[in-house]
Amino acid sequence: MHILTIIGARPQFIKAAVLSRYIRNNPQLGVKETIVHTGQHYDQNMSDIFFTQMDIPQPHYNLHIGSGSHGKMTGLMLEKIEVLLLELKPDVVLVYGDTNSTLAGALAASKLHIPVAHVEAGLRSYMMAMPEEQNRRLTDYLSTWLFCPTDTAVDNLKKEGIASTNGVPSADNKIVCKTGDIMYDASLYYRQKSTSLQTPNDFILLTIHRAENTDDLVRLTNIVNAINAVSEKKFIFPVHPRTKKILTEQGLQFGSHVKLIDPVGYLEMLKYEEACAAVLTDSGGVQKEAFFFQKPCITMRDTTEWVELVTSGWNTLTGADTEKIVSTIRNIHTPTEYPQLYGDGYTAEKIIEVLKSQY
Ligand code: UD1
Ligand code: UDP
Repeated sequence: MHILTIIGARPQFIKAAVLSRYIRNNPQLGVKETIVHTGQHYDQNMSDIFFTQMDIPQPHYNLHIGSGSHGKMTGLMLEKIEVLLLELKPDVVLVYGDTNSTLAGALAASKLHIPVAHVEAGLRSYMMAMPEEQNRRLTDYLSTWLFCPTDTAVDNLKKEGIASTNGVPSADNKIVCKTGDIMYDASLYYRQKSTSLQTPNDFILLTIHRAENTDDLVRLTNIVNAINAVSEKKFIFPVHPRTKKILTEQGLQFGSHVKLIDPVGYLEMLKYEEACAAVLTDSGGVQKEAFFFQKPCITMRDTTEWVELVTSGWNTLTGADTEKIVSTIRNIHTPTEYPQLYGDGYTAEKIIEVLKSQY
């Protein structure tokens, strides 16, 4: 079975590391993987560092698409991925999550009748204005295999009429499976790897990068004001390049209780998550990682796809409401119950088993 994996953005390198390692360590499975990097993320600390640090094989192809508007980026990817697919003729195209690289990969493959496997299928924020919601919904519709991290994701698909059917798997005869969350597997494996990073005590780990917060000056200003108001707390903030650019352009500044640093590697990020008192974020992945390390999380969004974190009390949604962010930070507490929400750490194994049963 020849799987062609398409990745391009930071969280996809982290997710792909797990599946790629499983394939490489198990040659008896008879699975060949070709890794295609779209080049959506390209800075050393947004891309290369993950390949080196996480021992991911260098991509066989890098399409060097780089930054651009949604249409331009997705269009260029589509064109270049199609050429590769025609040449390599993989059995399956595998995509992760909800970025422009995800959608371009799924669409290019589906137009050529190459079946698509979507890892992290079924997630919904029910906000179509988010680029991620558009990408994930369209990818789910194009996919043959929908690998869902949670029961909620399976139920979301069911509500849209997407469920497993009998017959030869295809985009019309979909296979929907709950596999657990591949980011949980990544965190279990890589938290054992050492890093020399020293962390301070009692700080809040902060990340901000989502379009709905960074492209909206009112929301971004509300967030900055909230964090500046909580000057009795210490924050460590690895700044995504998108956010750095906008903060600079708009002249928005943080107080001295906020330590701004460049984006860090995954091992350092796990160390910060392990050491922090709490997490304040708008990231999808970081919300879950806070939970993996049993840290309370505050999410500066109006909705989340990871609803089980909210219902179990581990995550609080504040939107970009200054007062709500401030009061939630000041009243943060750690729930006593720790449910197992994201599987058993064998997501990669389950995905390959399902795919292998067809080839
Ligand atoms: C993308 C995903 C988002 C995901 C995030 C993970 C889409 C639509 N969005 O958002 O879902 O949460 O990745 O981090 O696919 N930039 C650099 N260097 C880089 C990469 C980006 O400077 O290596 C800057 C550029 O100014 C670029 C901007 O960041 O225009 C945004 O990058 P882009 O890939 O368009 O979206 P992200 O915000 O990274
Ligand atoms: N991450 C990282 N270094 C950083 C910030 C984030 O390694 O400086 C990791 C984080 O641990 C998580 C993933 O990147 O595994 C989340 O990616 P991001 O927040 O960019 O995107 P999202 O999950 O929101 O799509």
